[in-house]
Amino acid sequence: DFAAVAEQLKNCIEKVQTRMQSITENLTNLFTTAITAAFPDITDPPIVIALSGNNPKFGDYQCNSALPLANIYKQLGKKIAPREIAQKIVENVPSHELIEKFEVAGPGFINIFLDKNYATNSLSTIFEYGVRPPSIKKKLKVLVDFSSPNIAKEMHVGHLRSTIIGDSICRLLEFLGHDILRINHVGDWGTQFGMLIAHLQDKFPDYLVKSPPISDLQTFYKESKKRFDEDEEFKKRAYASVVKLQSFDPDHIKAWELICNVSRKEFQKIYDRLDIKLIERGESFYQTRMEQLVKELANDLEEDEGRKVLWGGGTIPLTIVKSDGGFTYDTSDMAAIKHRLHEEKHDWVIYVTDAGQATHFQTLFGCAKKIGVIDEKVHRVDHVGFGVVLGEDKKKFKTRSGDTVRLLDLLDEGLRRALDKLKEKERDKVLTPEELKQAQESVAYGCIKYSDLSHNRNHEYVFSFDKMLEDKGNTAVYLLYAYTRIKSIARTANLTPEKIRELSKTHQITLEHDKEWKLGKVLLRFPDVLLKITKDLCLHHLCEYVYEIATTFTEFYDNCYCIERDSVGDIVNINIGRILLTEATAMVLERCFYILGLKPVSKM
Ligand code: ARG
Repeated sequence: DFAAVAEQLKNCIEKVQTRMQSITENLTNLFTTAITAAFPDITDPPIVIALSGNNPKFGDYQCNSALPLANIYKQLGKKIAPREIAQKIVENVPSHELIEKFEVAGPGFINIFLDKNYATNSLSTIFEYGVRPPSIKKKLKVLVDFSSPNIAKEMHVGHLRSTIIGDSICRLLEFLGHDILRINHVGDWGTQFGMLIAHLQDKFPDYLVKSPPISDLQTFYKESKKRFDEDEEFKKRAYASVVKLQSFDPDHIKAWELICNVSRKEFQKIYDRLDIKLIERGESFYQTRMEQLVKELANDLEEDEGRKVLWGGGTIPLTIVKSDGGFTYDTSDMAAIKHRLHEEKHDWVIYVTDAGQATHFQTLFGCAKKIGVIDEKVHRVDHVGFGVVLGEDKKKFKTRSGDTVRLLDLLDEGLRRALDKLKEKERDKVLTPEELKQAQESVAYGCIKYSDLSHNRNHEYVFSFDKMLEDKGNTAVYLLYAYTRIKSIARTANLTPEKIRELSKTHQITLEHDKEWKLGKVLLRFPDVLLKITKDLCLHHLCEYVYEIATTFTEFYDNCYCIERDSVGDIVNINIGRILLTEATAMVLERCFYILGLKPVSKM
């Protein structure tokens, strides 16, 4: 029946299109309209919208454009009082469902009070459509280059940071509706392969027919490095091997694949445990493109002591060809960015590496602009840097014996310590073995990810299981508990999420009590928080927000009964409006956890 199908289709489209509204964006638009109408002689007027802080007297948001506008007029030789300007702005704001009222305060602040009806309706869409992202101007093709360890070398805590931050950025941008490619730019083409292959040929001469049993590539690497440093003859062979490999000699390719596969398997164990999805496309992928690039750049390259370098306006150049004719990290990155922006036509490329590589990426971006690979009008490129990981002694992160920490060992320790924590809280007495195991993994991997993401990524970061497993403060443990507590409220009232959704059709979220209203307004900020992160790619904003939800919820729950009991403990009244608010809170939290790569459990 045609009408029914059409109706279904309409609902589908609506569902896809229904996105949560960004309050800041809405207010910015409204005030842009008002200010340009009130002061048409000022081009590009300052539009300053901010949250009002904790005092309800100052409203929920503020527009602070009046003072800077007064200053602009002063410079033009006109004296207008900021309060007068504020008044005129307010008179010109188009009416909007979002706003209950304005108040001009102090020297010219405009306090904005949100409308409760709007808030109620907006939060209700969560039950109808789920927690939806804010709308984006354009769906972008984004490539995120993250994790990217080096074959045959250690995958270290720096790569762990890149993996965690990169994955979370992907999850965020995917949720917003962009088209994301997750790329693992592994170091699989460096000069180290010469010595590795030469050593493999000596140790396992029949490697072409029988897979060599290398399980410990670390040791293998050290052995070959020792020979490389001590044995001139071997060194020569190693150099010859790289040349053969890079010209795709089949036997060398085979040896190279064998070696890469050993590392690959190790890396995969980490990704599986942390639930990280990545597509491997290492430096080797760009070999022919690098050859091509060098030809194309012939006129741009400068000779420098036998090297061929490319200047891009920074303090150092990129080394495109080494004096022995080989390529470098710079060459592969230039070939890669060209491939990404021009062949694959990505709009946005994001690199997640330690801050130590900031100069490399600045130089890369500078050169890529200069030779026309990056067009700033259409492309966005970001280097998402992060600080070094320190041990609890504030020194470089090492094991007690001074070795680098193996990531698998680190994850194992996390599991062990998470279990200790759960046992300390006697959770093993109430959870089934299966539930306990789920809680253990959720806590272990959750706390490692969350402690990384909750720190400003630009700062150094002290890795401490003791700190991350604390159950107070902004930690994964605190939040995962908060979530299970929230979920248990509806369970106590015998209401399943389905039943609650049913109830949302006949009941409304209540926002009457101060604490209800406060919680509701925090939930409404979800779209704004996400949009802010797309600007600076700092995920700690989301962690701070999640923490604010949890603490505001506690305030609400301490002050507002959701379930009332009589003196013998029987339930006598269930406040549906509050249960709805509780469930909406849980749903927003779930969405945030998902973006942060945390897996909440309903029992813990
Ligand atoms: N393999 C490099 C490292 O371990 C990171 C690669 C980052 N991505 C890139 N396109 N350069 O430091």
